[in-house]
Amino acid sequence: MKVLAISGSPRPKGNTCHLLQEALKVLEQQGLETEYLSLHDKNVKPCIACMKCAKDKNRCSQEDDDFHTIFEAMTQADGIIVGSPVYFGSATPNLMALLDRAGFVARMGDNHFHRKVGSPIVVARRAGVNFTYAQLQLWFVICGMIVPGSTYWPIAYGLNPGEVAQDAEGLKTIANLADNLAWLLKKLG
Ligand SMILES: Cc1cc2nc3c(=O)[nH]c(=O)nc-3n(C[C@H](O)[C@H](O)[C@H](O)COP(=O)(O)O)c2cc1C
Repeated sequence: MKVLAISGSPRPKGNTCHLLQEALKVLEQQGLETEYLSLHDKNVKPCIACMKCAKDKNRCSQEDDDFHTIFEAMTQADGIIVGSPVYFGSATPNLMALLDRAGFVARMGDNHFHRKVGSPIVVARRAGVNFTYAQLQLWFVICGMIVPGSTYWPIAYGLNPGEVAQDAEGLKTIANLADNLAWLLKKLG
């Protein structure tokens, strides 16, 4: 079983990356295969609402960026974790561009994410974490995914790259989330 972690931060080695790596470490300890993918060096354009995915099935009409490669990796994974820093109280546009298109292509096509397991992870300097977690969770549940909990909402605090490492409770919450995710995946077989 494989879990894919996608970072929506434009920073390659920022706090989102740190948290996702913490989660992947636990998942690997639980014997799961993992893959890490950062959107910082990927080109994923926003949805253009052409609705061609409703006709063409399982394809987005925009073929000139990295979307289909990432979508393929998402469909291959049994579990998906997405991480985002809070930007003005919301998830990053980098991540939302991917989720808008992946969600629409899946829902207009073969419902690829149905009963996959996954969760958002969110980091911020100070505020907007719960709103952003809820924003991202809306995507998971409308796609029919199963979202495990943790010992707190899976959020953590930090401003500059690496600062999140000082948020002991945040790190523990992410580790517990990953542990629950591994448990759930194994139960579901
Ligand atoms: C454009 C922008 C908007 C931000 N908006 C918020 C915000 O609304 N609330 C907050 O607490 N932090 C905000 N931050 C801080 C980031 O969420 C924080 O630095 C986070 O750790 C960055 O994660 P990263 O290192 O993975 O990119 C913002 C940062 C940027 C660059």
